[in-house]
Amino acid sequence: MGLHLGDAAPNFVADTTDGEIDFYNWKGDSWTVLFSHPADYTPVCTTELGRTAALKSGFDERNTKVLALSIDPIEDHHGWAPDIGEVFGTALNFPIIADPDHKVAELYDMIHPGEGDTSTVRSVFLIDPANKIRMTMTYPKSTGRNFDEILRVVDALQIADQYEIATPVDWQPGDRVIVPPDVSTEDARSKFSNVEEIKPYLRWADNPAK
Ligand code: BEZ
Repeated sequence: MGLHLGDAAPNFVADTTDGEIDFYNWKGDSWTVLFSHPADYTPVCTTELGRTAALKSGFDERNTKVLALSIDPIEDHHGWAPDIGEVFGTALNFPIIADPDHKVAELYDMIHPGEGDTSTVRSVFLIDPANKIRMTMTYPKSTGRNFDEILRVVDALQIADQYEIATPVDWQPGDRVIVPPDVSTEDARSKFSNVEEIKPYLRWADNPAK
């Protein structure tokens, strides 16, 4: 059965480029982006891991750890990792899980047989400090993901959790926010600045984090 938003992220022990980890112990009370890619020594995956390495300070600023996975063996991960730094300018700075027996990939339903073979598709799980799954994305093998979008979702969830607001289409940090449907306009005016009622169900407010 697949994992759903709000489910507990399953724990596991796995071999990684930084040694064996117990996922929950490694993660601690950070947010975590757990993402799979199809294979080592492949072009799209190399761009994705290079971009993720370059975004390390952005993830750190958001108390967010990053953990990659493919079903290739640890020797391949160690052999391929230097290419990522060589080609994209930032050395690998997060662990990659080696999952040759598919243990973690199956636990997180990252292998989709209709996508051609038993390698993992491009799955993303954003997991919060309480180990709850808060966002998932699944991309096909041929399409590289947008890691700025993953950071944007981290920002959106963190501000939503802190201030009990929602965020609109294409929201960026600093933009105005949305009053959620279960908060009355009267209550919103006592909690937020500059509440603007466009429709009874569509209320904007100034960004409370600003
Ligand atoms: C890649 O990472 O380049 C890739 C992997 C599997 C299928 C297609 C592309």
